[in-house]
Amino acid sequence: MADLKTKYLGLELKNPLLVGSCGLTASIDSIVKMVDYGAGGVVLKSLFEEEIILEHEKNMKEKLGSQESNLEFLDYFDYQLKENTFKKQRELIDEIKAKTDVPVIASINCYSVGEWFSYAKLLEDAGADALELNLYRIPSKINVSAEEILKGYFEIVKRVKEHVKIPVSVKLSPYFTDLGNIVSQFDLLGVDGIVMFNRFYSPDIDLENDRIASGPVYSSPNDYTDSLRWIAMLKEQVTCDLSASGGVHTPDTFFKMLLAGANSVQVVSAIYKNGSGYIRDLLSGVEKWMEKKQLANIDEVHRFGRKLVPNHGEVFERAQFMKYFGQHQQ
Ligand SMILES: Cc1cc2nc3c(=O)[nH]c(=O)nc-3n(C[C@H](O)[C@H](O)[C@H](O)COP(=O)(O)O)c2cc1C
Repeated sequence: MADLKTKYLGLELKNPLLVGSCGLTASIDSIVKMVDYGAGGVVLKSLFEEEIILEHEKNMKEKLGSQESNLEFLDYFDYQLKENTFKKQRELIDEIKAKTDVPVIASINCYSVGEWFSYAKLLEDAGADALELNLYRIPSKINVSAEEILKGYFEIVKRVKEHVKIPVSVKLSPYFTDLGNIVSQFDLLGVDGIVMFNRFYSPDIDLENDRIASGPVYSSPNDYTDSLRWIAMLKEQVTCDLSASGGVHTPDTFFKMLLAGANSVQVVSAIYKNGSGYIRDLLSGVEKWMEKKQLANIDEVHRFGRKLVPNHGEVFERAQFMKYFGQHQQ
């Protein structure tokens, strides 16, 4: 029988399937269910600084009413609010540890540099085995250059790495002009893994009701090719682990990500769409592929994949269709 055990961020996983950060990883019941169906680990729902601040403001209004704000009270309240948020996170992590045997990766998204490392430290203290930095904000300010944005990202990662001992991964967006170079700079800063890629909330306009609505929330089964391409191209060029995220809906896609060199594969939309039991189907499908190709373990899958993807993933660098243009003229 194929052995799916692997290592990601230095953590032992019974298999490479991680439930990616989302609402499904925010509650103990759903986590236990997904682990029972075989998930190798979970990335907790991100803690968003914005959300914590909004909750803070709402609570403030309730507490203060029309009173004038008192600064010392504000400081105290801010501290207490953070304490509560991290207390809840600690309780969730404690429960996961008590009821399952899988590693827990916590996730954060902040916008002030100082908060990134303060949250990181609090999550490490709460018992997380590793941290995933959900590192993206829409670059909508037209007077801020890409260089400045990147400088901020590198600063965040450097500071977080200085403040925690647990492994740290960075979850990236695919929307960079110099993605390879950026990944290599994160690698040089000592990040333990790169997650490729995040999927963002996309607002849309509801024409019937004249309001802003949500665009498609879930990925589709064809959305995996960017992750596949970048993992295949970067695998041999960086020392950190690579985690696939985006469009993994079938065992075939899962197996392809492993062949490209992924150390773990994160799944979200497929579980929302098909239920937790689908984790078992994904894993047994991957096992079947390994057996069919006579690959005994994940190292063998990676080695086999390297033979398919020679020369630093050169074949994945081809951006234009060339011969396919000729064949698809109608
Ligand atoms: C409902 C939902 C909530 C999500 N919440 C988060 C989150 O809190 N933090 C995060 O880093 N990614 C979040 N994501 C992105 C997923 O972790 C994942 O990267 C993305 O959905 C691509 O994987 P998929 O194709 O398997 O869905 C969310 C995705 C969905 C669909």
